[in-house]
Amino acid sequence: MKNVLVTGGAGFIGSNFVRYLLTHEPNVHVYNLDALTYAGSLENLRDLPDPNRHTFLHGNICDQALVERVFRDYEIDLVVHFAAESHVDRSIFEPDAFIQTNVFGTFSLLEAAKRAWLDRSPPSSEVRFHHISTDEVFGSLHPDDPPFREDTPYAPNSPYAASKAASDHLVRAYGHTYGLPYTLTNCSNNYGPYQFPEKLIPLMILNALEGKFLPVYGDGKQVRDWLYVEDHCEAILLVLRQAPLGESYNIGGGNQPTNLEIVESLCDILDEVVPNSPHKPHRRLIRFVADRPGHDRRYAMDITKISTQLGWKPKHTLAEGLLATVQWYLENEEWVEAIRQRGDFKAWMQQNYAQRGERP
Ligand code: NAD
Ligand code: DAU
Repeated sequence: MKNVLVTGGAGFIGSNFVRYLLTHEPNVHVYNLDALTYAGSLENLRDLPDPNRHTFLHGNICDQALVERVFRDYEIDLVVHFAAESHVDRSIFEPDAFIQTNVFGTFSLLEAAKRAWLDRSPPSSEVRFHHISTDEVFGSLHPDDPPFREDTPYAPNSPYAASKAASDHLVRAYGHTYGLPYTLTNCSNNYGPYQFPEKLIPLMILNALEGKFLPVYGDGKQVRDWLYVEDHCEAILLVLRQAPLGESYNIGGGNQPTNLEIVESLCDILDEVVPNSPHKPHRRLIRFVADRPGHDRRYAMDITKISTQLGWKPKHTLAEGLLATVQWYLENEEWVEAIRQRGDFKAWMQQNYAQRGERP
């Protein structure tokens, strides 16, 4: 593991992973290729532990020539592919970018890896393409269904999930057909520092701090399996170090709260940590709004494989992770304010609420 190409490393999980990797792998150099869409920011990469071992490359993964140049110029031997359009609501209103980045972008990276590593004599050894995927490719569970396993059939429901499923299939196909050395991880809902506040947890924290209403979709009884982002980073690094090629692993937090329970917990934490807030009790800000079309009811991950084979399990409980997350958003006002002021964020919030017949 020497020259690591991280795609999407200026986004939420990618930036946490870059920080984690530089901290735990003293001999790697990270080449961070990111298009800096609305979801990416160089502010997410401040205070890297060893910035000399990090090179930021501003560019689009769909740009085949650029991606090939990156492989060649920096002698990439490991890819950790995070770059994606990641927000389900946006994929419902505007799916185009999801197909472009998640499907064609992954294809472009796979082609570049194949040309750089396999179309030569002898083919490169000690190389790996690691693809970051999601539990959403498995579809939705009924209340009494067992959790998703690695061999659960794919049944993606949203344009986002379908585009991620397509990218997973492409990765497997490149492994099967061309012998591309790959591993793949499917993870559940992440939360923690640097998450863009269009997603449930940071949106609720920031709205509550401003006394804005807290929009809970439908009846709020949908269930997600929440994982603190640092635990996800730890699992990925373990897979990179120890997992046999051609394997996929499910990663999850092992908890099953409803969305409403998550929002209520955040309100209660805020009541405690901001005792003088004029918006207390924050639970009164909760408002049920129109549901997300095609909304998946329940996700849950069976993490037996990664636990037994690699010895991983999450370190943070949900209560610890939520408290740490609230504290991070309270302590990083500048980061939060910069996002609040961005025109593209304001425009999205207006569009999203308008679709639900609401105003922010
Ligand atoms: P994010 O939206 O916060 O970040 C995505 C990053 O990718 C941004 O920095 C963006 O600028 C970059 N990007 C987007 N399109 C690009 C392109 N065409 N070329 C180069 N860079 C581009 O996403 P995230 O939540 O950090 O998710 C990262 C990955 O993890 C995604 O593949 C996502 O599907 C997967 N995942 C996310 C979660 C979650 O809960 N957030 C859970 C499981 C899996
Ligand atoms: O499961 C993994 C997936 O988790 C990742 O692959 C995605 O990239 C990531 O965005 C996330 O998808 P979700 O749709 O589950 O996350 P989101 O934070 O958008 O929503 C979580 C739940 O909360 C979901 O049931 C919808 C609901 N919700 C969301 C928002 C933004 C609300 O009730 N109100 C809201 O305002």
